[in-house]
Amino acid sequence: MSEIVEKIIRLIEEHGDSQYGGEAVSQKEHALQAAHLAMENGEQANIVVAGLLHDIGHLLHHLPDDAPDHGVDDFHEELANDFLKQHFTNEVVEPVRLHVAAKRYLCQVDPSYLGLLSEPSIISLGLQGGPMTLEECAIFEANPYHKDAVILRKYDDLAKVPELEVKPVAYYAPYLESFTL
Ligand SMILES: [Fe+2]
Repeated sequence: MSEIVEKIIRLIEEHGDSQYGGEAVSQKEHALQAAHLAMENGEQANIVVAGLLHDIGHLLHHLPDDAPDHGVDDFHEELANDFLKQHFTNEVVEPVRLHVAAKRYLCQVDPSYLGLLSEPSIISLGLQGGPMTLEECAIFEANPYHKDAVILRKYDDLAKVPELEVKPVAYYAPYLESFTL
């Protein structure tokens, strides 16, 4: 197994017990559920891997889990991007970088989407800039990975199920490996 895949597995295993920003699941459960639900729905492997990695930025900083409640955006998607782009291909890195933008995008283009968001997601939306303007939507749609980011976002929003049975982190090692640089 490559060093980076080992490091990621360790990061999720060892630091993933912190709460997922006010939700009913831990960071580790959230990551595993996002990957699991994507796989169960037959999504492409890059979405499964992006599901596992999308919130790794939360494990790379030392802000408290409830930072958004105190008006602090942790910019976890940027932290994840800086880290992941050194080791993984764009098929994985870009949807992760864009998963917060995808939330802001969906709030603009899909009127029912806001109603699906959990309270912590709505709180952080405000800090992240709120719904996109139409101009921002056009820029977002110009990114070749925007559709993947929207698909990833769907699993991010669903991956908040208390005590869902999922596979262990190590199960995803070969998938992670296949997207390393
Ligand atoms: Fe997430």
